Formats: sequence, structure tokens, C-alpha cells
Amino acid sequence: HTARFTLDPAFTVGEVNPRLFGSFVEHLGRCVYTGIFEPDHPTADEAGLRQDVLDLVRELGVTAIRYPGGNFVSGYKWEDSVGPAEERPRRLDLAWHSTETNRFGLSEYIDFLRKIGPQAEPMMAVNLGTRGVAEALELQEYANHPAGTALSDLRVSHGDKDPFDIRLWCLGNEMDGPWQTGHKTAEEYGRIAAETARAMRQIDSRVELVACGSSGQGMPTFAEWEATVLKETYDLVDYVSLHAYYEPHDGDVDSFLASAVDMESFIENVVATCDHVGARLKSKKKINLSFDEWNVWYLSRWEQHAQAIEPGDWPQAPRLLEDNYSVLDAVVFGSLLIALLRHADRVTVACLAQLVNVIAPIMTEPGGPAWRQTTFFPFAQASRYGRGQVLDVRVDSPTYETQKYGEADLLHATAVRADDGTVTVFAVNRSRTDALPLEVALNGLDLNRVVEHSALADADPDARNTLDDPERVTPHPVEGTRVKDGRLTAVLEPLSWNVIRLS
Ligand code: AHR
Repeated sequence: HTARFTLDPAFTVGEVNPRLFGSFVEHLGRCVYTGIFEPDHPTADEAGLRQDVLDLVRELGVTAIRYPGGNFVSGYKWEDSVGPAEERPRRLDLAWHSTETNRFGLSEYIDFLRKIGPQAEPMMAVNLGTRGVAEALELQEYANHPAGTALSDLRVSHGDKDPFDIRLWCLGNEMDGPWQTGHKTAEEYGRIAAETARAMRQIDSRVELVACGSSGQGMPTFAEWEATVLKETYDLVDYVSLHAYYEPHDGDVDSFLASAVDMESFIENVVATCDHVGARLKSKKKINLSFDEWNVWYLSRWEQHAQAIEPGDWPQAPRLLEDNYSVLDAVVFGSLLIALLRHADRVTVACLAQLVNVIAPIMTEPGGPAWRQTTFFPFAQASRYGRGQVLDVRVDSPTYETQKYGEADLLHATAVRADDGTVTVFAVNRSRTDALPLEVALNGLDLNRVVEHSALADADPDARNTLDDPERVTPHPVEGTRVKDGRLTAVLEPLSWNVIRLS
């Protein structure tokens, strides 16, 4: 049972936007404190940023970094997070039942991005939960206006002469979720999002704005929410957001392995909803998708933990959501990346949630080392080699049965053609037991050499990287992959993520 597909440069999905390889830093647990920022750490620079973490962030290849939340943003007062650090107020963070010291704030975030390098770009969320239009405008003026007004001069007086030049803004976070502080109906949110967008554009017409879509395809208001919000905001925003997290439920690993089936249907349903609203408005404009939270997340563990939180307990930077990812998780994660690439024509922003410690590809120990989780590798490889034109891949694959999604393909794949003509195939074998032979017809492509076939797979699908064994899992080279007479042949190991580079 061989899986097959054809690559032909005449048939493409679209160009990959570098913002597809975004990530997310939220004031949550140890993402910021003892994650990216730890002044006492041996590798910390003068600003308190951990250099060991910065090195890994660069290696990961992230682009847009969403900040400061997440659920956190719905209680965020931006003005608490600027100015002399010792004068900043401590606040209750309702979202994560923690104490926020504001020791790390807006200026430190921009410094972090600048130190990552030119590929990094800010993506700032405004608080539309407990605040509104005025505070969003004040934040925009403080951040982006060059000088000569009260708030821009305040930024300059805080030591940030150059404006932050934030282009990409999220209009709130998960406003459809009853857990969100200041949760709204679609009508309420559509109005405030439209008014905020209109006013932000008055300051600067070049801003790119993301309206909140649903916080999951399973939400009871899904699709109706998007339609209602977009009726209000269609001409004022550029993107609608999607969020999705996956974990195995009741030990159903086969459905978990097919999580991308859900992710792809979610994307296609949101595209259909956006285009429906556009059609009704007789608009030529297309709304793009910002998949600004996605990952494997053992959310049910957090839900259990949250129930046990003592009302008087408001810890600082507690260990929250520190999922330790297995090889199995990384294979599913790779498949989610493939799903995003397969829809690169409309998904033009995506953020892996999150970056460090909190459901993250990078882990740290306070005062100790930083290391790569299993999920680090698929992301780094996709960001490095997944730039260019996505080729239209239609697989003819053996299938297997899943409880959630019925019959699913064992092969999940995409391919990206770089400007220099080289092609990288990204492929997942979802079979837990069998290797999967793969044949790819290379039509109209001048490819005759396998540069590399790298796989992430292990005899133990539960293998993980930990503080004690940080390099237990890494990708390995695969022998025997060939290109001959315009045909690529390979064998994909059971339960594997594969990167096959051709020139
Ligand atoms: O990423 C963790 C949380 O998941 C975010 O704060 C929230 O937006 C989502 O529910």
C-alpha cells in the first residue's frame, strides 16, 4: 500500500507569508518570567533577557510574536507596563490567578524582538474585555507616534526614542469565550471591534487589524459569531482569528493523530464564512485568516488544576501549562504545520502558542539550562525550508479508521518550492505500526537529487526531552530515499514527521 501524489509547478496553493511562522508570548506562568526574562540568570544581558533562550528562539525561526495575551490581555493596563520598572504596580491577573509585577513590559518586549533580529515582528493585542476604544488609541499613540504629543513624549522620556512601529494588532482575545474577562456577545463585540478599528485607522491607515473569530470550531456560536462580527467590521479589518488546541481524549490516539482533519475543516469553514459575508456585502475585498493560537495542549490537565486553585493564592510566575511533549505529540504538531501550509493562500498569519515554558517548544529551568522540546524540530524545519510557493498536493493514500473523523489518510503532506527551484516535501505517516512507502511524481520540476531526508520518529512514541535528558529526541537522517526518472521514492517510518529536500 503505497501513498502517492504528484507535484507540478503549474499547480500551486499560494505564496507562504513569513508570518505563518509566528509565535506567542503571554504573561502566563513562566513564559516571560524565568522564560525569556530572568535578570539573575548567568546568560542574562543588561536588560535581563536570557541569551540562551534568545539563541534558541533564533534557531526556531519565529517571525511575528503575539503579545501580551491571550486571556491575560483582557485585564491588561498597558500603562502599568511602561516607565521606571521599580515604580510599576503589582496587579492581580484574573486570567491565570497570578500576581503580575509588570517588571517586564512593552519596552522590554520590543527590545526582545529587536534582539531576535529583523525576522521578528510585533503583534500586539489591545484589551477589549475590560477596556475600550480610548485605551487602544492611547496605547497606539504611545507605541507608534514619533514624538510631540503627550503619550509619544512619555515613551521618549522612558528611554524609547524610536517608535515601536507596531503594524499588526489584535482587537481583543477570544471574546466569544465565557471564560474571557469582559466576554461579549457577537453583536457587542462586533460594535466595539468596528469602532476601535475605525479609530485606530484614523491614527494610521497602515495598521493591519485582526478581529476575534471563534476560540474553537466546537464553540456553540461558531460561524454565526464570525458572520455577525464581520458584518460590522468587514471593511475595517484585515484578518479574522482562529484558535485550536488538540490532545488525545480518552486515550483515542488514532483520532488525535488525525487532528489536522479538524484544523483543515476549521480553516475551510472560516474561509467560507468570510467569503459569504463578502458576497453579501458585494465586496471585492478578501478577509485573510490569522491562526493566532495553535498547538497540542493537554488542556484537560489545566482545567483540573484550575478547579483546585485556592482563592487566596496569587503566585508570581507559577509553573503553569508546562506540557512536556512526546514524539507522538511532535508528529501531530508537524501535521498541524502541514495543515497551515496547505492553506497558505488564506492563512497569512499563524502563531504557535506559546514560545517558552507554557505549552512551548523551548523549556527553561530558573538559573539553569534551556532546551528543545520534541515540537521544536518540526517548527524549526518548516520555518527554514517552508518558504516559497506551496504546491497543490492531493494525496492518494491508504487510510485508517478514526472514531472522531471516520476514515482518514495515513499520509498527510505538503510541498514548498523555493525561489531557487528546490522543493521540500513535508510528510507525516500517521500509522502507529507500519512504515508507509511513498512515491511522488515530479512533473515539470528539474529535480534530481535528494539533499536530505530527515525524520522525527522513535521506537518509543512516548520519548521526550527533559531537564535530565534534553537531547533524548532529535531528528535523524533516513537512508534510501531516491529521485530517479522524475519520481521520488521514500519509506516513511511508522509515526513519523519527515522533511525531504530535493534539488
Ligand atoms: O494559550 C493559552 C490560552 O489559550 C490563551 O491565553 C487563550 O487565548 C487561549 O484560551
